Amino acid sequence: MNTPIIRTLHELRAKTTKWRQERRVIDVVPTMGALHEGHLSLVEAARRECDRVIVTCFVNPRQFNSPEDYRKYPRTEVADAALLAPFGVDAFFVPDGEEVYPAEHSTVVSVSGITAPLEGAHRPGHFDGVATVVTLLFNMTQPDRAYFGEKDWQQLQLVRRLVADLKLPLDIVGCPTVRSDDGLALSSRNQLLSSDARARAAALPLALERAANSISGGAPVEKVLARARADLAESGFAEIEYFEPRDSETLGPPRPGKAQRLLAAAWLDGVRLIDNVSLSPDLPSATGKAAS
Ligand code: PAJ
Repeated sequence: MNTPIIRTLHELRAKTTKWRQERRVIDVVPTMGALHEGHLSLVEAARRECDRVIVTCFVNPRQFNSPEDYRKYPRTEVADAALLAPFGVDAFFVPDGEEVYPAEHSTVVSVSGITAPLEGAHRPGHFDGVATVVTLLFNMTQPDRAYFGEKDWQQLQLVRRLVADLKLPLDIVGCPTVRSDDGLALSSRNQLLSSDARARAAALPLALERAANSISGGAPVEKVLARARADLAESGFAEIEYFEPRDSETLGPPRPGKAQRLLAAAWLDGVRLIDNVSLSPDLPSATGKAAS
């Protein structure tokens, strides 16, 4: 079945209004396109659990930190529609810039706290762009549930906070990170790596996994983190923006007895890679000052 592409809010509303009248459960999977197995795992989960699935594709200019990065972002709409076909997606919503942000658009949605460290500290304005577009996409699609990947852990927590704070009437479903055989988290940006860099990129998930195991085993956190940074540098990572344990939910400093996450962002071959893994809770040694 061909995936019906919808470009305007008017067309989309015609469908969602009808589905609501029929009491269908509507799920949305927001994306920026260049779809891969990671995105498709969200679509699969949505398809399994509900009546009507909308996938959105919008390369959101407001969440990029440079016009060059925005320009370089892969755009593969025809291939994306073909990848969605086997899932029987009910609508592939691909609005243009004007449809999402008409010239007079003046509203910014901003979530504080959770967005301050890590990605927020290294990508000023990024999360305002994400929060604004996610709010718009929720209002445009009016879903019962929305699916997000754990690959972008901080983004997932931001969306949960946003929905709770604004009392938006939908549930957020988090889905596990899909990785390639060597452990690298699938990402649309991986296509921008040279083949040599792609071969070295698996050092990032390996360093995270090793560090998480060492910390869980009781090794001193500062030492483990320093070793991980050194390993990454040796594998050719040019800049490690952060590599640190955080409270899973608040993204603040780890709290004893609460779930923790080890999160990293690093540059390889001019491409910025991010990843994260879980750290078991109640680890006294993982409350080190790395996150202060
Ligand atoms: P994008 O990077 O296209 O990702 C869309 C969704 O797919 C996000 O929820 C992301 O976490 C998830 N995803 C990406 N790679 C994944 C992987 N390897 N395993 C599991 N899930 C994965 O994230 C965005 O777009 C944008 O910020 C968006 C939310 C659409 C707002 O513009």
